[in-house]
Amino acid sequence: MMLTRRRLLGGISAAGALALTASVPGARAATSLPAAPPVVAGKVHEITLVAAESDMRFGVVDGTKAPLWVYNGEPFHTLRIKLGDTLRVRLENRLAEHTAVHWHGIRLPNSMDGVQFLTQPPVEPGQEFTYTFTPPDTGTFFFHSHCDTPQQLGRGLVGVLIVEGDEPQPFHGEHVLVLKDWRLAEDGTWLPFYTPEGAGRAGTFGTVRTVNGVEALTGTVPANGDIRLRVLNVDPTRMIQLGVEGADAFVIATDGNAVEPFPLHTWRMGAAMRVDLHVRAPTAGGTFKLLDYFSAEPWPLAVFTAEASTIPSRPVEARALYAPHAPLAEIAGAHEISFQFTASGGAPAAAVSALSDEDPLSKALLDSLCTGQRGLWAINKQQWPSGGHRDMPPPLETLEAGRTYVAELMNATPHPHPIHLHGHMFEVLSASRQELPRFMADTVMVMPKERVRIAFVAAEGDWMFHCHILEHQENGMMGWLRIA
Ligand code: C2O
Ligand code: CU
Repeated sequence: MMLTRRRLLGGISAAGALALTASVPGARAATSLPAAPPVVAGKVHEITLVAAESDMRFGVVDGTKAPLWVYNGEPFHTLRIKLGDTLRVRLENRLAEHTAVHWHGIRLPNSMDGVQFLTQPPVEPGQEFTYTFTPPDTGTFFFHSHCDTPQQLGRGLVGVLIVEGDEPQPFHGEHVLVLKDWRLAEDGTWLPFYTPEGAGRAGTFGTVRTVNGVEALTGTVPANGDIRLRVLNVDPTRMIQLGVEGADAFVIATDGNAVEPFPLHTWRMGAAMRVDLHVRAPTAGGTFKLLDYFSAEPWPLAVFTAEASTIPSRPVEARALYAPHAPLAEIAGAHEISFQFTASGGAPAAAVSALSDEDPLSKALLDSLCTGQRGLWAINKQQWPSGGHRDMPPPLETLEAGRTYVAELMNATPHPHPIHLHGHMFEVLSASRQELPRFMADTVMVMPKERVRIAFVAAEGDWMFHCHILEHQENGMMGWLRIA
């Protein structure tokens, strides 16, 4: 493997603002990742997924005061399958409002994408819907509803989907780490899942930060082991700067897609992003930490202690996963499109801060389903309208299936936006204010005043395209692409 700049850089430079102009259109990043073996048809998993309120207590969340909404009785319910397996998931809605399941990052038939009104009717209380698909990619994914998402996801209605089959040799251990904050008041009741103030700015943050629902997560790993960490940021709002202290760590996959391993310096993860790390466990008794370096005082996410093992100590070598299955776009001759992310309608921040949570209009906004009542944000000057999904606006773009597109995402706001395209894996070609390797993703962070270029092969369907800060999504920064 050649030692290139891509392998040496892990995420951003501390002070940001480093213009990268080196990305040449047409230049395809050669991969030295091992080729994946052919996919063979596997088993069919018949799964019932019950979305319901739970009275469980978990971690710091007092379920009696702040009832969780969960799948199959637990937050972060995890489905684990092998590449080639088919999922047949019957969603049973036992909530008091409609829902659906969106399989974030999975390339699947459009009708299985789980977007109320766009790809399926809402699953009303007491009703059910069956999702059948065969994920074409290995990796670390998650699933969640697509209406009233700040509340539904905010209360815990989010699950993990792991598609195995990307390891040329098995790791000695694996941990799945789900980052999510909770909007809890001092007395243990729920705070509003978002506020007009947050919606108009960087978002409304949780008051209790957890990993796997625990405030100070601890775990064990076998000494000297090669450990895989699957880290998911499923928070509706928070962006972190992930780093590891006390062990050698490499980034091996982004949003489920293998990358040529590079040493982890820190890696920026906005809402909905995932990263897979290879960490070499220390010798027996040693510890390593996962930290969020976003603020000056790093925030401890988890601590792992190495337990005696028979694994010999040996030089550290990054472990690559099999090359991704998602098609890499041939950039030469690609069609260029662009999307501008803006604050809409004059001075939203001022207008919004005049409102309070007691204001009946804001109350209606917070209680409403599937609506962007207040157009705070826009994509290409188009706001997700009041009443949509129910009243679908026209698509932002109509694209041709099978064709390659290079899209420029331009953030004209003072806040970062993690931008997500359904049903695709795109390649991040360049970012004007972050120093990034080229990598595959389904969600990309676009920093204030930044231009990010992505490339993808358009897949047939009607696909949502939105900011994954859920209150931005619900307040205008959402649209869809028609690909036919
Ligand atoms: Cu993870 Cu449209 O969402
Ligand atoms: Cu946003």
